[in-house]
Amino acid sequence: MVTFFRKVRMRRNLLVGIGASLLLVCLWLSINPRGVDSSEVAGDRDAAPPAAPAGAGSDGVVNVVVVGATGDLAKKYLWQGFFNLAYEESAQVFHFFAGARSPQEKGEREMKGILSENVSCDRLPESISRKTDNCEQRKAAFGENIPYYNLKKTEDYKTLCGDIQRKMQGVGLREKGRIIYLSVPPFAYADIAASINTECRPLGDACLRVVVEKPFGHDTASAKELSGALKQHLKESEIYRIDHYLGKTGVQSILPFRVTNREKYGELWDQEHIERVEIVMKEALDVKGRISFYDKYGVIRDVMQNHLTEIMALVAMEIPRNLSDSADKLEEKLAVLSQVAPATARQAVIGQYSGYGDEWREEMDRGQDESTNTPTYAAVRLSVSNPRWGAVPFVLVAGKKLDEKLVYVRILFKNTDICATTPDYANEDHACQTKQIIFFIGSSKLPTVAVSKSLPRPAVPVAWTVPGLGEGTNILGYPLSDFYVFSAGAESDPYSSLIRECYHGNQDKFIGTPDLMASWDIWTSLLQEITEVQPRIYLGGKGTGRWLDFKLVKTGLSFIHQVDTEWNAERGQQFALPSMSGISRTFRSDRLFTGDTEETVALLAMHILHSANNAISERGVFHVAFPGGSTPGRLFMYLAMRMRNTFPWTDTHIWFTDERCVTVTSPESNFNLIYTKLLRYVSILYTNIHPMPVQLAKGLCHPDDNGAGIYSAEMGRLLPDSRFDYIVLGVGNDGHIASLFPNPISLYNDKHLVVLTEGSAQMEVRHRMSLSFLMINKARNVAIHVLGEKKQSLVETLRHTHHNNRSKLPVLEVDPSNGELTWFIDHSALLSV
Ligand SMILES: *[C@@H]1O[C@H](CO)[C@@H](O)[C@H](O)[C@H]1NC(C)=O
Ligand SMILES: *[C@@H]1O[C@H](CO)[C@@H](O)[C@H](O)[C@H]1NC(C)=O
Ligand SMILES: *[C@@H]1O[C@H](CO)[C@@H](O)[C@H](O)[C@H]1NC(C)=O
Repeated sequence: MVTFFRKVRMRRNLLVGIGASLLLVCLWLSINPRGVDSSEVAGDRDAAPPAAPAGAGSDGVVNVVVVGATGDLAKKYLWQGFFNLAYEESAQVFHFFAGARSPQEKGEREMKGILSENVSCDRLPESISRKTDNCEQRKAAFGENIPYYNLKKTEDYKTLCGDIQRKMQGVGLREKGRIIYLSVPPFAYADIAASINTECRPLGDACLRVVVEKPFGHDTASAKELSGALKQHLKESEIYRIDHYLGKTGVQSILPFRVTNREKYGELWDQEHIERVEIVMKEALDVKGRISFYDKYGVIRDVMQNHLTEIMALVAMEIPRNLSDSADKLEEKLAVLSQVAPATARQAVIGQYSGYGDEWREEMDRGQDESTNTPTYAAVRLSVSNPRWGAVPFVLVAGKKLDEKLVYVRILFKNTDICATTPDYANEDHACQTKQIIFFIGSSKLPTVAVSKSLPRPAVPVAWTVPGLGEGTNILGYPLSDFYVFSAGAESDPYSSLIRECYHGNQDKFIGTPDLMASWDIWTSLLQEITEVQPRIYLGGKGTGRWLDFKLVKTGLSFIHQVDTEWNAERGQQFALPSMSGISRTFRSDRLFTGDTEETVALLAMHILHSANNAISERGVFHVAFPGGSTPGRLFMYLAMRMRNTFPWTDTHIWFTDERCVTVTSPESNFNLIYTKLLRYVSILYTNIHPMPVQLAKGLCHPDDNGAGIYSAEMGRLLPDSRFDYIVLGVGNDGHIASLFPNPISLYNDKHLVVLTEGSAQMEVRHRMSLSFLMINKARNVAIHVLGEKKQSLVETLRHTHHNNRSKLPVLEVDPSNGELTWFIDHSALLSV
């Protein structure tokens, strides 16, 4: 501990040094306190405190240059942000300049479009008072006066900055400061910084602020290199690394909440009282279309190393002594970040959503036998080695294509109270209930902060309000009535907010170089370790099981639900079987899933589950038809054992693709099979099970009983559009599916939905009832399931038989007219030895 403290102290002294020099530089902008409405008359500004530092008068110009001015980010956020700033700071004279690599005319045209169409008065934040209702006029004026520069070489910067100087002389004002926003890829930073340094520094004591965008490197070494290159040309006080998460209302409310409640919560804010801290960023979207960017980064670099680590620092840092001092805040943030032990693979679980591999192969033009380990989901346990936090796990979780979009920080307190007296729940007695504080980020339907009523009632900053939340709102599964809730204001556009912070010189809202390096030190070794780790594959989306749930174990994390084998069947290479390279991800031009037997079964089960969840969310019900025979037995067991609790059984109807003409108690009965292996284990409604009526008044499958007609009518009555959501088929060595056997070609054209059929003479039970091709091909999804080496020659034949060849293989007639066919073939069936 002694050495630990010494280290921290040394770092601090060093930083105080940096901080002090920071303070001396440009206080120009911070003297105009935010919120003072100076829109009426410029003369108002004379009322500024007389103690204003030299050179901080109101008569200067602030020059703003946006480099990458026509890019997406600028179009979406930056120009709006600067317009908001100019609108709010109406007494300030701004000169704006746009630069990009587009040639002059094209660039001018693009800028015109952006300024007229992508900047809007509707997007002024609520916090900006609209006393004067001349927004449209001011928008027009804003748009008229922004010249465009084609910026490529150093000379171009020289021209631009010469013009900046001239323009000020034209209005007879001196320059107060200069903001240059680099909305360009990081590889361009060094060159541009060099040009800025030689050509674009403002004269005199005006300050320079250069804003840069992430990614700031991909590990410690590259971040160091990138920062080194910037620092050759810019001072630390001039670099504003933007992390837009720090502009979000929820994030910006963490420190004020802690400060306002330092009396009440200060002494609870430690390992003695806090059980754990969860920082969670769940996204529902996937990364399709952006894989060439994403694959280089993955979820840890994309959001954990920056956004989540910064949030963690805001929860864990000491409250700065001087809250109005940026340098002080940065110093405390750095102190805590440098106390976070570097993460290792044991502290993490990682996942990759199941479509990612295919998207990657397509977008990156990779071969079918190649795969990527880039995680799209991760949970990581961090710890802060200091006396306040030593034993508290900080659990950071983030992922793409998860069940919902939700971002929050949850501080869970230890609950040591045990009630011997039953609390008076009716009268809001919250004794002994879970104690937690939750900050929600970016959600309009949830409060900014929720505090359990079993904790002391918090005080909050005056501007905060009590939100009116919808009936039935729950807070991470707890009733709303358990909490004190507060809103810190509507979520404003974070870029707009950070542009304002930059203008005011609040550098603590940005990422300092030491901060950045401390953060990379936390993540770099983990990132190196996991390049060799195969992420767990997850289907993603709502209701696709609990595969990503994890638990705290000793000092690490592990998934709660283990799988027997790594069933990541989408990634060819890991099975280390011979001749894998010949395997493609399509089979007969339809989608193929393969793996060993267990994996193939698991994939089919997941695919069915996924389809069930989709069907239920769209139509409220899921209709599936299962076959009999030997192949589906494993699937039924899998569904029964692994998905007993996660599959939406209550909204599922189970039908049959075919049935043998035997009594239901016969071991040959398909109904009997599915009952024995699946139905008796799961809570499915009896009325949702639809066995084929093979045994009626006149006997087994007697044509006069019209069992086929009865089944057709039942399907017609219950299936939306008379279509199954999902049909599972096995395939016999003779190519038969359901009970549609080779030979009677007439079956192919049968207009009935259910037919009576006859197998070959060798079969024990020749007579069958079966869905027809017509019914099968109407389904939304058909899966053909092929297992075992006995099917190898069949698979070979299928592989080489042309679709139009009306051979004698009924399976080739499966071709859903308006749905999808997917093959699930295990390795032993797929591989020719
Ligand atoms: C810019 O405005 C145009 C026209 O309203 C719109 O189509 C486009 O999506 C906007 N672009 C961005 C990035 O907001
Ligand atoms: C706090 O910081 C502000 C801004 O740097 C400074 O003006 C003020 O004097 C500081 N207050 C104290 C008590 O140090
Ligand atoms: C059709 O299939 C049969 C049996 O598999 C085969 O002998 C024949 O050559 C095939 N014809 C075409 C045109 O593919």
